[in-house]
Amino acid sequence: MKTATSTLILLLAATINAQFYNETSKPFNLVLTSENTTINGSTLSACHTGAALESLCLSKGGGVSNPNPITAATFNFNTSTNPFTPNATLGTPGILTWTLKTSSIDVPSSVYFNYDPTTDSAIPILTPGSERPQLLAFDDQDRLNVQGYIDWTANPPNGTGTTMGYYRWYACQTYFSGYAYENLAWGLGAGKPENPTCVSVGVKRVFV
Ligand SMILES: *[C@@H]1O[C@H](CO)[C@@H](O)[C@H](O)[C@H]1NC(C)=O
Ligand SMILES: *[C@@H]1O[C@H](CO)[C@@H](O)[C@H](O)[C@H]1NC(C)=O
Ligand SMILES: *[C@@H]1O[C@H](CO)[C@@H](O)[C@H](O)[C@H]1NC(C)=O
Ligand SMILES: *[C@@H]1O[C@H](CO)[C@@H](O)[C@H](O)[C@H]1NC(C)=O
Ligand SMILES: *[C@@H]1O[C@H](CO)[C@@H](O)[C@H](O)[C@H]1NC(C)=O
Ligand SMILES: *[C@@H]1O[C@H](CO)[C@@H](O)[C@H](O)[C@H]1NC(C)=O
Repeated sequence: MKTATSTLILLLAATINAQFYNETSKPFNLVLTSENTTINGSTLSACHTGAALESLCLSKGGGVSNPNPITAATFNFNTSTNPFTPNATLGTPGILTWTLKTSSIDVPSSVYFNYDPTTDSAIPILTPGSERPQLLAFDDQDRLNVQGYIDWTANPPNGTGTTMGYYRWYACQTYFSGYAYENLAWGLGAGKPENPTCVSVGVKRVFV
């Protein structure tokens, strides 16, 4: 009962919130590219990972909690009405969105990054609304990136004066709130994550 009540509150909050990122794209699937032929070409799906939360699991399955193939998710990309585009080649920053369909209402959801301070990778999670989204972008080749302008390897760290695109995506067996999926993950820093199951991937959108 407690879970049901808090879920309802979450869902209501999501539908009431004013939407800043309210310009939406055509629908698309997300497809992984990888040197690893098992992973190359797998799409991403939305896998239940808590009340109204979903991780971006590999549609081909392969995880403890998602051993079997499931249907690819259909995503949209929302931007603000007057978006700031630091570099057109890298694409306009916005939010990755998906609609959670319940028996009573449709819940617009968006991706944030879930950080665990004990490790060096984050997990993109879909949550209702757009309260704390991770800004992402699709470059001119439809490849998903995160943009930044700070050189963290400089001594001392400093702004570079230019916006850079980062593509630190991995397919990893993850463990989040009791679910062990093979998920899309984000590497923190330039090195490969310590999670031994992580395989380097690119994420590409393919319009449906
Ligand atoms: C994305 O934009 C569409 C169109 O305005 C809107 O219906 C949807 O709720 C937005 N999604 C999120 C998560 O804000
Ligand atoms: C998004 O919100 C802005 C500001 O409220 C408004 O001007 C614009 O028309 C909205 N766009 C859509 C697609 O609803
Ligand atoms: C990955 O899949 C694409 C599209 O099917 C193909 O063109 C490419 O050669 C594949 N890459 C590898 C390393 O197998
Ligand atoms: C390819 O990825 C799978 C996980 O999907 C992993 O089991 C396998 O070891 C990887 N192969 C290589 C050559 O890294
Ligand atoms: C925009 O990004 C591309 C790809 O990283 C880069 O080649 C180009 O120099 C950048 N343009 C500017 C004006 O910084
Ligand atoms: C930081 O970058 C700015 C502009 O890019 C430059 O003027 C400044 O000297 C740099 N500071 C250091 C400590 O390198």
